[in-house]
Amino acid sequence: MAQQQTFLMVKPDAVQRGLIGEIVQRFERKGFRLVAGKLVRMTEQQAEFHYAEHKGKEFFGDLVSFITSGPVFAMVWEGDEIIALSRTLIGKTNVKEAAPGTIRGDFALHTNRNLIHGSDSPESAAREISNFFGTEELVRYERQIEQWL
Ligand code: TYD
Ligand code: MG
Repeated sequence: MAQQQTFLMVKPDAVQRGLIGEIVQRFERKGFRLVAGKLVRMTEQQAEFHYAEHKGKEFFGDLVSFITSGPVFAMVWEGDEIIALSRTLIGKTNVKEAAPGTIRGDFALHTNRNLIHGSDSPESAAREISNFFGTEELVRYERQIEQWL
């Protein structure tokens, strides 16, 4: 399997609800490696760049105001096939389709308050990481448990 990096972000609703630890724990226990993390208040410009693919859609304005309405916990994680696997842990975008056991399935009530973002492709991951982190902020190390995964 291929090692990949992805950008995961605990959104303002989950920060306010005290779910940072719960969410981080799920990725840690899956066996992924946290390589960068910080609590930030996104600027409007940063939000529009992050969600560029949705510009023009009817929910875009509300999405940008929501994502800039409070601090987010921005992270970079690494692991085998992490882009697809992390989206499986996150659950479907539409909360009515998000399965129990997923982050959204367990904790989200509304699609526009769905707690967490995860990159959907290597290209998105690269763009989203660069929107928050310089390469010098990504920490390289190994976890001993990786030989058991
Ligand atoms: P999208 O990239 O389609 O979902 P995901 O976060 O699973 O990659 O959409 C980005 C965010 O926009 C989504 O997490 C919640 C919000 N959104 C709405 O509020 N209404 C919608 O109909 C859609 C599709 C998304
Ligand atoms: Mg998306």
